[in-house]
Amino acid sequence: MTTPHILPSTLLLSAASLCLASCHNAGDDLSFAHQGDTLTVVHVGREARFVLLPVQENQPEAQVMLGDVPMDVRLAVDKVDYTVPFPLRDGADSLVVRGLAANAVAWQQMALADTFDVANRETFRPLYHHTPAYGWMNDANGLVYKDGEYHLYFQYNPYGSVWGNMHWGHSVSRDLVHWQHLPAAIERDTMGHIFSGSCVVDSKNSASTGKDNIIAFYTSHRNTTPGHQRQQQCMAYSSDNGRTFTKYEGNPIVTPFDGLENFRDPKVFWYAPEEKWVMIVSADKNMRFYESHDLKQWAYMSEWGEGYGPQPNQFECPDFIQLPVDGDEQNQKWVMIVNINPGFVSGGSGTMYFTGDFDGHRFTPDTAPNVTKWLDWGKDHYATVCYSNTPGRTIAMPWMSNWQYANLTPSNGQFRSANALPRELKLYTAADGQLLLSAAPVAELEALRGEAQQVGDFTLGEKKVNAVGKDGAFELVFTIRPSDKGRSGVEIYNEKGEKTLVYFDAEKQRVVMDRAESGIIDFGKGVQPHQLETDASKRACVDGLIHFVNDFAHATCAPVEKKAEGHEVRIFADRSSIELFVDGGRVAMTNLVFPTKPYDRLRFFSDGEAHVENATIYTIKL
Ligand code: FRU
Repeated sequence: MTTPHILPSTLLLSAASLCLASCHNAGDDLSFAHQGDTLTVVHVGREARFVLLPVQENQPEAQVMLGDVPMDVRLAVDKVDYTVPFPLRDGADSLVVRGLAANAVAWQQMALADTFDVANRETFRPLYHHTPAYGWMNDANGLVYKDGEYHLYFQYNPYGSVWGNMHWGHSVSRDLVHWQHLPAAIERDTMGHIFSGSCVVDSKNSASTGKDNIIAFYTSHRNTTPGHQRQQQCMAYSSDNGRTFTKYEGNPIVTPFDGLENFRDPKVFWYAPEEKWVMIVSADKNMRFYESHDLKQWAYMSEWGEGYGPQPNQFECPDFIQLPVDGDEQNQKWVMIVNINPGFVSGGSGTMYFTGDFDGHRFTPDTAPNVTKWLDWGKDHYATVCYSNTPGRTIAMPWMSNWQYANLTPSNGQFRSANALPRELKLYTAADGQLLLSAAPVAELEALRGEAQQVGDFTLGEKKVNAVGKDGAFELVFTIRPSDKGRSGVEIYNEKGEKTLVYFDAEKQRVVMDRAESGIIDFGKGVQPHQLETDASKRACVDGLIHFVNDFAHATCAPVEKKAEGHEVRIFADRSSIELFVDGGRVAMTNLVFPTKPYDRLRFFSDGEAHVENATIYTIKL
């Protein structure tokens, strides 16, 4: 051991004296000085990179402390679900653990290690969607492109596979398809959790931290008194292409002027006409706008949002982008992306947007408060924000889950949650005159296409195809002219009859994805208090309820325009998700599924006569 640990000396002394009465060892590596029922000093007997902490996911959080930041870990009481690596920084030779009884099983199984095995142990880990190597993930954060790299930061808990200890995890990609895991970029600190936010490339050195530094803006969150919280905006900068960040010594940079408790997820962007930076912060049921010239001092400008979208709601994770209408660069509109939880049309959390104008100070929407437009009609598309610094295109990256059940989805404990596929957003004018966003898979995803299996052109009735994809991963492409009566579409299923249906519903002029019988659907029971079967999901479809079993197991649907020439359909299936894109992303629908055997069969069907053309199944080439 080289560097002495940073524990208060009083605590150490009392722990050492108590050791005689209640100490035990885990080999020579670790010894435990239990002080009272729930405070233990862990002595580290040799140099090592990690202490492996045994976790039992349904136990309450204990606090593990090295230095002055407590990390909340659900340490195992009577059964070990999995272990997480706790880094022993700077050769630390002890830790303090609070909130775990001396007879807990975790003490027997705690161990020192220099490596942590991240080989996949999860049946439901996607093959080509981004996931963290281990631990919990939620929102995509700070999405920024710089020097050929797409940075994907994300809400990350390295100490368990349920929500907690918010860090900014980090992965990078050169093509938005293949991702490399990097160490967490911003860690929970004494100010609190590192909640969501955004990044910019400071090409003008506005912040005086260095030209072209990546500057991150995040919310620092902490609980104050029971039931109360403080959320304030902070800044950090990176001069090593986003690998590590230095937190600005003047943090926080923005606090709510009225003590608002829900005040988070800063989005910062450059507003060229006034040569200034603008920040949008979600503030309960509003978005607040601020301006700055140095990225540190921010002045309040305006707010917008109260009463917009389904009620009641809570705004989170704003994004604000300017896009050409129908490709016309001379005619640009602003789009406010608002993630809300709850309030989604199919229950729980979802992403809505509003088109309008921005004069540098104030946002004026085009539509009345009760007009809501959804960016994705599936149930697992949330906290979606866009990459900054990608001139010429706008790329959105969703978190693929829903707060109704995100912490409960089937997992062996190695990780939870994936990102949905990155999408390019475009504004188009719909047949009824509405200005809408399309969300199409980014062009780079075509590189994933492996062998093509031509299914060809056919008229339905029914047509079955066996043996598609591998491990339930494939892309299916076809054009369909649905029947004018009943349902026409495709069933994606396995040998056990678990299935997800995607079909056009002629009577209701909508497209539907039905995962009510998709595989494991009752995972909420018994893990944690669950929120299944809430009223919100009784609104499961735009136009009345169809096939509802519980808050996970039900159909989702979207209105679809009639097209005489037929609809272009792309379906991306992975080990635990189905994403549907119709007509170049005019409908996007993202849903998780948990089939107990990979989906490897298709059945095209129609209640009347439907025509399918150019049906092709691509295997996935990684
Ligand atoms: C959205 C959200 C954000 C917050 C983060 C915390 O999913 O609730 O508002 O910053 O998650 O992890």
